[in-house]
Amino acid sequence: MKRAGHWRHMFNPYAFSFHEELFRTYGTVARVYGFLGDIQLVVSDPKACNNIFIKDQLIFEQTEAQSFPKSSSVLAKFVTYLGVHHRRQRKLLNPLFNVNHLRHMIPIFHRVARKLRGNLELIVLDGPQEINIADWIGRFALELIGEAGLGYSFGTLEGRNDEYCRALNDLTCFPGQLCPLLRFIETCFLTSTRSSIPQFSKLVGRMLPWPKLNHLMDISETMNAGARRIYEAKKRLLELGDDATIKQVGDGKDILGLLMQTCAAESENDRPSEEEVLAHMTLLVFSATDTTSSALSRILHLLALYPDTQDKLRKELKEACEENEELTHDQLVSLPFLEAVCRETLRLYPPGSGVMRTARSDVVLPLSSPIHDIDGREIHEIFVPKNTNLFIQIYNLNRDPSIWGSDAAEWKPERWLAPLPESVANANIQGVYANTMTFIGGPRSCIGFKFSQLEMKVALSLIIPTFRFTPAEVDVVWRFGVIVNPSVKGSVESFLPQLPMVVSRSIGAP
Ligand code: HEM
Repeated sequence: MKRAGHWRHMFNPYAFSFHEELFRTYGTVARVYGFLGDIQLVVSDPKACNNIFIKDQLIFEQTEAQSFPKSSSVLAKFVTYLGVHHRRQRKLLNPLFNVNHLRHMIPIFHRVARKLRGNLELIVLDGPQEINIADWIGRFALELIGEAGLGYSFGTLEGRNDEYCRALNDLTCFPGQLCPLLRFIETCFLTSTRSSIPQFSKLVGRMLPWPKLNHLMDISETMNAGARRIYEAKKRLLELGDDATIKQVGDGKDILGLLMQTCAAESENDRPSEEEVLAHMTLLVFSATDTTSSALSRILHLLALYPDTQDKLRKELKEACEENEELTHDQLVSLPFLEAVCRETLRLYPPGSGVMRTARSDVVLPLSSPIHDIDGREIHEIFVPKNTNLFIQIYNLNRDPSIWGSDAAEWKPERWLAPLPESVANANIQGVYANTMTFIGGPRSCIGFKFSQLEMKVALSLIIPTFRFTPAEVDVVWRFGVIVNPSVKGSVESFLPQLPMVVSRSIGAP
C-alpha cells in the first residue's frame, strides 16, 4: 500500500482523473495524506468493502460529527444515528420504503412526472429548444420527494420557488462544503437545539466577520424553519382525522405522515422526539433529491449521446404503454431494457462517487486480491489503526476491469441482457443493488434505493416516448463531489447543475 497523494487532489470538481489514476497506479487500496497530514485510506477492494459495510459496520461507523443526537449536526438538522439508535430508526422507516408501499404511492409518482412532461411540452411547443434539463430534473426530484415523502408540494414544477427550496439549492451548490476547516466551524456554530450552548455558539458564529459562515447559518435556519412549518401543518391535519389526511397532497400515503402515525402509536419511551422526526425530514429530502436527479440527468445525457440506445428504449416503452401510459409498478420493473439502462448507468456513473467512514478501533481489513506494500511485498490484509478515515471509492469498484471485464469503463446497457461474467459473481460484492456499491450494502445501505428506481422509471416511461433528446453544442463536464453533477465546461463559477440539451417532440409522440 503506497502513499498516493493528498486529500485536496481527491476532493475537487475535477478529481475523477486523479481517482482513475490512483486505481491504475496503486490498485484497490491507497494511502493519501489528510487535511492535517494524517494518513487516510482510499479503498475499492470488494472484500474490504463488505467488511466495512457489513461485518465490521459497528467499527466503521460514520464520524461523530455526523451523528445525532450525540453531537451537533453539520449544516441543517441531519440525522445520522450510531449503533442501536440507527437500528431503531431503520426499523421504523423500513416498512415505508418496501415494495408494497411503493405500489400504493405510484399514482403520486405519475402525477409529478406528468407535471414535468407538461412543462417540457410547453417549452417545445413551437419546435426544438435548448433546455437545461438538469434544472427540470432537479425540480421533478424535489417535488416528488415533497409530495411522496412529506405530503407537501414545493411547487417547483409550477414555477414556485419557496424559501426552503432556495435554501436547499444553496446548500447543494455551496462550494465550501468540502473544506474540513469549515466543517469544523459549522459543527461548532450550527448546533442543533440539543447542544447545551446553541444560542451562545450561534451568537458567536453570527458575530464572526465570515460571510460564508453566516450564509450557511441562514441556509440552516431557513431549512429548519421550513421543515418545522411542514411538520406542524401535517400534525394539525393528522389531528383532524382520516378524511383531512386523504385530501392532502400525498393522498395520505406520504412517508412523513405515516412516520408520524407510527410514532404516535409507539410507547412514550420508544417514541422519537419531534426533533428527531424533523431531522428525518431533512435527511430524506437531502438524500432523495440530488442523488436521483444526478442519476436521471446522467441517463438522459447518455441517451442523447447514444441515439440508437435512446430509440431502442423508446420502442420498448411505447410498446409497453400502448394500452395505458401509466405503467404499474410491476410493469415498470419487468421491462428488460429500461432495467438495463438504469443498472448500467448506476454502475458506471454512481451519483455518489464514494462514502466516508472512520475506524473506531484498530482493525484488520482482509482483501479480495493482494496488493503490494511500500517495500514491494505482497499483502492480503491491511491493519487499520483506530481513528483512520477511509474513503470507500464506489466509482472505481463499480468499474474494476478484473470484475467487469476489459470493457468495464464502457457504457453498455446490453451487458445486462446476457449472463454477467463469472468474475462478477466471484467478486461477491454485497451491495444491495446489481452487484455494485452504488447504494452500498449492509445496515446503512440506501433505504430509498427502490424508491429512486421507481422514480427514474416512471419519469423515463413518460418522457422518452414523448421527446427526443440530442446533445447541445457545449462541452458537458461532470463534476466530482459529494454528489456528481453536470456543468458546462468553462462555467466553473456556477455550482448549479447545468445540462443543456436540445429537446424536441419525438415522431409519433402521444
Ligand atoms: C440514485 C439515487 C440514490 C443513490 C445513488 C443513493 C445512495 C445512497 C448511499 C451511497 C447511501 C449511504 C451513505 C452513507 O452511508 O454514507 C445512502 C443513504 C441513504 N439514502 Fe440514498 N441514494 C439515492 C436515493 C435515495 C432516495 C430516493 C431516498 C429517499 C426517498 C434516499 C434515502 C436515503 C437515506 C434515508 C439514507 C440513510 C440510510 C441510513 O443511514 O440508514 N436515497 N443513499
